[in-house]
Amino acid sequence: RVTVDTSATGPEISDHMYGIFFEDINRAADGGLYAELVQNRSFEYDPADNAAYTPLTGWAPRSGDPRVVDDDGRLNERNRRYLRLALPGGIINAGYNSGIRVEKGKKYDFSVWARTDQATTPLTVSLTDPAGAALADPLRLTVRGATWTRYSGTFTARTASITGRLLVSGAGAGTLALDMVSLFPRDTYKNRPNGMRRDLAEKIAALNPGFVRFPGGCLVNTGSHHGYEAPDWERRRSYQWKDTIGPVEERATNANFWGYNQSYGLGYYEYFQFAEDVGAMALPVVPALVTGCGQNQATDDPALLARHIQDTLDLIEFANGPADSEWGAVRARMGHPEPFGLTHLAVGNEENLPDQFFSRFTRFRDAIEAEYPDITVIGNSGPDDTGGTFDRLWQLNRDAGVAMVDEHYYNSPTWFLQNNERYDSYDRQGPKVFLGEYASQDNRFYNALSEAAYMTGLERNADVVRLASYAPLLANEDYVQWRPDMIWFNNHASWGSASYEAQRLFMNNVGDQVVPSTATGTPSQEDRPITGAVGLSTWGTAASYDDVRVTSADGTELFADDFSGTDANWTNIAGRGTWAVTGGAYAQSDTAAENTMVMAGDPAWQDYDVSVKATKQS
Ligand code: AHR
Repeated sequence: RVTVDTSATGPEISDHMYGIFFEDINRAADGGLYAELVQNRSFEYDPADNAAYTPLTGWAPRSGDPRVVDDDGRLNERNRRYLRLALPGGIINAGYNSGIRVEKGKKYDFSVWARTDQATTPLTVSLTDPAGAALADPLRLTVRGATWTRYSGTFTARTASITGRLLVSGAGAGTLALDMVSLFPRDTYKNRPNGMRRDLAEKIAALNPGFVRFPGGCLVNTGSHHGYEAPDWERRRSYQWKDTIGPVEERATNANFWGYNQSYGLGYYEYFQFAEDVGAMALPVVPALVTGCGQNQATDDPALLARHIQDTLDLIEFANGPADSEWGAVRARMGHPEPFGLTHLAVGNEENLPDQFFSRFTRFRDAIEAEYPDITVIGNSGPDDTGGTFDRLWQLNRDAGVAMVDEHYYNSPTWFLQNNERYDSYDRQGPKVFLGEYASQDNRFYNALSEAAYMTGLERNADVVRLASYAPLLANEDYVQWRPDMIWFNNHASWGSASYEAQRLFMNNVGDQVVPSTATGTPSQEDRPITGAVGLSTWGTAASYDDVRVTSADGTELFADDFSGTDANWTNIAGRGTWAVTGGAYAQSDTAAENTMVMAGDPAWQDYDVSVKATKQS
């Protein structure tokens, strides 16, 4: 029974309350939201990005012994490598996943930068299936002379395919040089050139996000010790926004923290444009010269710090400056004379060196506030490690009067159910919370349910929790570094997880104001069992359990174990197969490792007629 007190009002809920966190993880950008169909279009893949890479990854020679070279004949200083093809010769790109996806009747824009050591070289570009059968009429182009020039043409697909190949071949004699071989669907989200894959963008837009946090978490601040002191093309530079704007052929590629190459084709301009297109507030994250995510290095280089701070001021000018300002003019040249209207900006992500981070953060914040007092500068608390860096960072943020602090956590569904009151006791006078990353650790219905339950706690505390985003957003099913994820896809299909549906429900029904309510009939705090969905439950962290019971929904006890013996499996519970308890089931000691218990059982037994109850040792 829920009782609503209509005479009272609670906190207002911001229209921006629920947003999305886009990180280029799981191939969310190249091979994902960024609609480019050619993989490794500029031959910049490198073993430094991924040990399995060569500059020809994604490509197969057809003839003519294609070679990637890096010499003075390059397209430009940032786009270092190019393909040299002895003629006659050809090379084939296989796109992502099963290949290039084309839809019957739709248009596909091809472009390439090329030069030849002949007066002219005939270039034929074909869209085929893996056996070589044409999916569209081939394009016939003529490359003229020794100066790099962009050539283009458009295919209209006659046949649909999800295993398409792009064959680029030159005829005659001599040598042909190729770079930036690109194939884009004409049909992108909002028909933007260099735009977003429509189905993914539409799924995101359907969330009605209040903000877009980008371009990532660990992606942003790792490798920042290189900064701009390293050459533009050096791998493992931190994610620096100036690397990602301007003509795509002049954007350097880089190693992505998650183990692949990032083209930066989807860069800061495109992120701002996309946020505007989906009606959301853009919320960029910049690196703060302290690396988190396991690297934990702080850079002591005052000149480098000053440069990154200036870059951040330039970023604000890029977003908000008039079209005749230095960086506003760059934005205008890219196609957006009007300001993007940036209001929030986060400095740093999951910093594990609290004091080193905070001294740098303070320099960023002071500089931004001096020039742009209306911008909200967001600090962070590191991952919620229940102590240590998290508490220290909160204290630093609180003491310095930081406006908003970014929190992150990934926990079991049980944790989300048990921690609904997390923010009830947060200091109302302290920094507001930006819950920039959270998810319960699987993609099942129960996870979505636990997240939805938790979100009621976020809303109840909307005076403290101002922004919240599930993470990560996207995952290409063939290139997964992290799960669970909100939206899954391959080269031709996309589907929302149960968590996507929970987010969509909340994000499309954001209230204006909390109305105080009470409920009866729910378990009280004291009675609440440690309960996990059967099938996959992780429960228990730094505590021990000495009595575990499995009961059906009607309370019938199916199985109990007091861990006094040495049982390795719970066999044939109520005739329902074998249950293995893994991950250190025998909770006789106090070490955290031994107390994380994962139950995995008969997959058929995954409806919610069973709960697991563990009694904590005294
Ligand atoms: O969302 C995946 C990762 O989780 C983010 O990159 C990082 O901030 C967090 O650890």
